[in-house]
Amino acid sequence: MRILLIGDIVGKPGERIVTRALPGLRKRESLDLVIANAENAADGSGLAPSIYRKLIAAGVDCVTLGDHIYRRSEIAGVLASADNIVKPANFPATAPGKPWCVVKAGDGTPVAVVSLLGRVFMRPVDCPWAAADRVLAEIPTEVKVRVVDFHAEATSDKQLMGRYLDGRVTAVLGTHTHVTTADEQLFPGGTAFQCDVGMTGPHASILGRRIDRVLETTLSFQPTQFEVAVGDVRLCGTIVEADAATGLATAIRRLVLTESDAEDLAPAAAPTTTPLM
Ligand SMILES: [Fe+2]
Ligand SMILES: [Fe+2]
Repeated sequence: MRILLIGDIVGKPGERIVTRALPGLRKRESLDLVIANAENAADGSGLAPSIYRKLIAAGVDCVTLGDHIYRRSEIAGVLASADNIVKPANFPATAPGKPWCVVKAGDGTPVAVVSLLGRVFMRPVDCPWAAADRVLAEIPTEVKVRVVDFHAEATSDKQLMGRYLDGRVTAVLGTHTHVTTADEQLFPGGTAFQCDVGMTGPHASILGRRIDRVLETTLSFQPTQFEVAVGDVRLCGTIVEADAATGLATAIRRLVLTESDAEDLAPAAAPTTTPLM
């Protein structure tokens, strides 16, 4: 079976390339399950319920988030009611959302999805390693395919989580830095790993935001509006192939789609001219 994790979706450009490309991409890549990190989907920070619904309608099966999870407070209702969206499992129990979920893939395989947050250069949270142990013990044993989105800043932490969970989960894939790393690999125990699957949004930017605004604030120390950029929109993610019977990964591959790739995958537009009678 094949699982795609789409990296941090940033703003309207990110949402648009996902909704344009995904139905065709699912077919082209024979995807059984699509997970998307949508922590930056609402104007670059947080996720609004309306965007969540659009992503699901476009073919996203499960949504993960990150440090910006509660930036749009209205998402709390979705986090409480929907069974295909998770909060970081190392957030306190009182924080809205579920620490893990199980979604059914297209081939019928149940897949557990877990999100964990790193602690280096990030707001302090509970120990991600202890949280991983706790959550993996809670997931029913018959759910063999398990995907971890490790939303963290430090590549060293990400490698450590990958090695810690090697053989116990299908994949440990990183998000949060918005920069794709070229280290995708299969670990000896059968876990697919990559430090960061990258950003889905405008790459003519600083991590998805307008270059001029970030530069102005950096040089002048005066706050500006870090608006979402517009140029060079790409969909970045990683596809993991897994054996549904064992839950172990058999292949991992990076995926990048440009806007023109997305248009090639998009359904043909309906004719706009009225045929002559
Ligand atoms: Fe992000
Ligand atoms: Fe983040």
